[in-house]
Amino acid sequence: MLRFQAAFRSLLACALLSPCLVVAQDAQTPAAPAAVGEPAPMPTAAERGKYLADAGNCLSCHTQAGAVPFSGGVAFETPFGKIYSTNITPDTATGIGRWTADDLRRAMHQGIGAGGMRIFPAFPYTSFTKVTDADVADIYAYLRTLKPVRYTPPANGLLFRMRWPLMFWNALFFEEGRYKPNPTQSTEWNRGAYLVEGLGHCSACHTPRNRLMAEQAARAYEGGAIQDKVEKSKTRRWSAVNLTSAKHGLASWSVADLTRYLHTGYSTRAGTFGPMNEVIVNSLKKLKTEDVRAMAVYLKSLPGREYSGETVSAEQAKPGESVYEDRCEKCHSSSGRGGIFSGPPLAGSAIVQAEDPASLVNIILYGPETPKDVTLGAWETMPSYADVLSDEQIVAVANYMRGSWGNRARPLTKTDVTEQR
Ligand code: HEC
Ligand code: HEC
Ligand code: HEC
Repeated sequence: MLRFQAAFRSLLACALLSPCLVVAQDAQTPAAPAAVGEPAPMPTAAERGKYLADAGNCLSCHTQAGAVPFSGGVAFETPFGKIYSTNITPDTATGIGRWTADDLRRAMHQGIGAGGMRIFPAFPYTSFTKVTDADVADIYAYLRTLKPVRYTPPANGLLFRMRWPLMFWNALFFEEGRYKPNPTQSTEWNRGAYLVEGLGHCSACHTPRNRLMAEQAARAYEGGAIQDKVEKSKTRRWSAVNLTSAKHGLASWSVADLTRYLHTGYSTRAGTFGPMNEVIVNSLKKLKTEDVRAMAVYLKSLPGREYSGETVSAEQAKPGESVYEDRCEKCHSSSGRGGIFSGPPLAGSAIVQAEDPASLVNIILYGPETPKDVTLGAWETMPSYADVLSDEQIVAVANYMRGSWGNRARPLTKTDVTEQR
């Protein structure tokens, strides 16, 4: 409430002092302590910047399949229509060739582009605002080394051609500010928090959003949902799991499991199979082990709120048992613990117990999509069941898994499955 009032007051002040509507003046920001902002010394700013651009996964969002990296034009589906990423190569006509380092800093810290144009939060400046000035300067140095590409992405959907409403959105939901180290925590924890909350923008997918697409800060990392591309021009809804240490989140993962999963796409707890593919292949895989480990350390410290809603009853779990025995037990075992040579455990799985079962239904319907440079240990390959199981059977087997082996989650309904077909 207080924050809302403060936001409203500053909005009012802005309305009265009209110049601030166009471009807010940068606040003076003190330099962050060395422990947080700087990766180990590397020869040039551009090389440091490349590493940081990897950590921010600029590549995934700014590169269409088969196109020159960073040339933009990737479409994002939102409830308000389509929005396209921009060309961030240094082309002077269609890219950011005329931008200064300060322009990039204002874009990443305040969501304001060159010329004062407000940027939509599909560009995660709500997270990038945490990145130090020095790191943004390095990213700028790196982007300057790219080959300019002349390409203009398609025009946004109608609602995304109006940029003035962003002024209100920012006043309500956006808090500008660099990452503030927590002195009661270790250097490693702080490094992890800096990467997860800043460049890593994990909350963009893993935090639930409100109707105006703003992340709900009070429920940070408790699981979100996104629309993501699958094939050319087709998209599918996915749920991103709860990353807190709740039992339906990452309670059963160790720091080592999480480090390994984030760095390679595979751990004995789970493998990547959906939108995490790009996060891992284009970003996390390229980071140093100690940085990925720091992220895991931070994530494992997030306290979880245990699930207290409706749970699958014994009667609701029963009908799926035979489907599970016929189709799934071979790899995931009757105890739900999986096997080193067959598949991951489903007992304690965040995917199985997710409040929003979109990703659970996706993996059953379509099977996992494993990137070619990810090896899932010695596991077998999970098939797809879209043509094998009916919607009722998928509901049944999902409810069996959600009500067995200590798992707790609400029962699925048929629409949970039909929506994903
Ligand atoms: C989650 C997807 C996503 C990620 C990650 C992302 N961007 Fe973007 N970016 C976008 C979208 C979408 C837009 C267009 C927003 C709009 O039109 O208002 C954009 C716009 C921009 C702009 C504004 C350009 C202009 O011409 O106004 C810049 C600069 C930019 N991104 C740089 C970066 C950098 C640098 C990184 C990595 C550190 C990055 N982006 C990561 C999605 C992303
Ligand atoms: C041939 C072996 C095999 C069979 C049969 C199989 N799976 Fe899997 N399953 C796997 C493997 C391997 C993975 C990991 C895939 C990845 O991460 O890319 C997996 C992943 C999963 C996951 C994701 C778990 C997590 O926490 O990330 C779920 C849920 C799942 N399977 C459910 C099922 C269900 C339900 C069935 C039966 C209808 C089934 N599987 C049949 C091998 C199998
Ligand atoms: C583009 C959206 C997106 C972003 C960004 C993202 N995630 Fe995910 N994440 C997902 C989705 C969707 C899943 C479900 C499984 C999958 O895609 O393989 C997931 C699954 C996971 C899992 C659990 C895997 C399992 O099978 O139980 C972990 C751990 C995870 N993400 C960590 C992270 C971290 C750490 C970051 C930030 C560096 C991050 N994610 C950024 C969408 C995202």
